[in-house]
Amino acid sequence: MVTGAASGVGWSIGRRLADDGFAVVLVDINPDVQDREAELVERGATVSSVVADLIDRESIPSVAAGILRRHGQCDVLVNNAGTHFKTPEGQRFRFDEVGLREWDLSIALHMTAPMLLCQAFLPGMKERGWGRVVNIASRAARTYIQQSSAFYTASKSGLIGLTRAVAGEFAAYGVTCNSVAPGRIRTPLTDISSAEVKRFSLNELPVGRVGEPDEVAAAVSFLASDQAGFITGAVIDVNGGGFMAP
Ligand SMILES: NC(=O)c1ccc[n+]([C@@H]2O[C@H](COP(=O)([O-])OP(=O)(O)OC[C@H]3O[C@@H](n4cnc5c(N)ncnc54)[C@H](O)[C@@H]3O)[C@@H](O)[C@H]2O)c1
Repeated sequence: MVTGAASGVGWSIGRRLADDGFAVVLVDINPDVQDREAELVERGATVSSVVADLIDRESIPSVAAGILRRHGQCDVLVNNAGTHFKTPEGQRFRFDEVGLREWDLSIALHMTAPMLLCQAFLPGMKERGWGRVVNIASRAARTYIQQSSAFYTASKSGLIGLTRAVAGEFAAYGVTCNSVAPGRIRTPLTDISSAEVKRFSLNELPVGRVGEPDEVAAAVSFLASDQAGFITGAVIDVNGGGFMAP
């Protein structure tokens, strides 16, 4: 199951896991996810899609139950759905501008939804002795990023904390839980950034380019594989050498 799979990184992850041979469930608030399903079906994949608002925490248990009814089990959960709420001018919120609305929505999407989905699917993974959870965090949760609003940094940092909690509790049962922390990746989320922010990102990156969604998907694919069974509670930074910047 891949959340936020209608676009950007989530769509790349869904495609990649389908190519890896998984039956894939694509979940997104955006009904375009049904077109993504059709694209994968055309490629011969076993795939279904669910339109759901993961901010609505009351609905998550029934979304998960529906997936279990239809597919029997979930072996790999990728918590990717996310967003960085911006001001009406498309800017980050300065700390003194942060309101409880964006704060609560960010926690709901980046922490509560992943937690509830873990609660729904991890008992089955534990029982079968195999499972993978990959949480898509952010470079903003790894170091100070000036362009990030406090609610984004805090909720993505919480997701990394959730990763450790789940990893520890399920480590003995063949279930791993890791985070992937992307730096700037070329997706609709970042396409709306101002030219100034884009220039800043390029200048600070040793590789001199933004990343591609498929480069995040490759890391997720590895973490979801049998080969990654000894990696748990980790954060994989996919950020173009961002931490080596002067
Ligand atoms: N693009 C980057 O540079 C970058 C960097 C670091 C982290 N990330 C993270 O990667 C993930 C994917 O981002 P992206 O760049 O592909 O963005 P994107 O906007 O292209 O895709 C995010 C997807 O999540 C879905 N989504 C948003 N709110 C939802 C909700 N309430 N319920 C269900 N689905 C919802 C959107 O409809 C969209 O399809 C996010 O968690 C983001 O925070 C992205």
